[in-house]
Amino acid sequence: MREKRRGPSLAVFPGSFDPITNGHLDIVDRGLAVFDRVRMAILVNTEKKPLFSVEERVAIIREVYRGKPRVEVDTFSGLLVDYARAVGAAVIIRGLRAISDFEYEFQMALMNRRLDPRIETVFMMPAESYSYVSSRLVKEVFQLGGRVSDLVPPVVERRLREKYGTPIRRGRRASGRR
Ligand code: PNS
Repeated sequence: MREKRRGPSLAVFPGSFDPITNGHLDIVDRGLAVFDRVRMAILVNTEKKPLFSVEERVAIIREVYRGKPRVEVDTFSGLLVDYARAVGAAVIIRGLRAISDFEYEFQMALMNRRLDPRIETVFMMPAESYSYVSSRLVKEVFQLGGRVSDLVPPVVERRLREKYGTPIRRGRRASGRR
């Protein structure tokens, strides 16, 4: 059987990325090991109230991947499969951290397959050390004064500081010592 001649492979990695975490970076790295290009596609969601605007999230991701032309960033609205088809991607990448992610991801993957069977969803597992990391928890921990430097790239920590101000660290001395 003759091999189909294909151009460089492109995978779309969609998400909210509000903000991007080291878990997302880990998935991008894994994607790059399999595909020629990975395009992070930020959903423009008018219903959700994000911390970072779409423009800010694009700027953050651009800064993280400056000088790495194999990682692209874009925004999309409407159906993900329509977007993937329009940009010539045959694959959607999603990260699977834990079993708790599975049901939602499984539903999305099957719905996307129903909408366009030519587009395949590929799940990638991040390093175990990121299995509990989510954008939501990063924001919460930062806001409450916890350390997030191991969980997000430096640009995100800087941007969080700009948004929330420097959080008050809850040190041992603050616990009512006289
Ligand atoms: O990071 P998130 O918030 O889990 O990403 C969710 C995302 C953007 C992948 C998902 O909401 C999505 O693909 N939305 C586009 C709308 C769509 O195509 N819906 C039908 C398929 S489920």
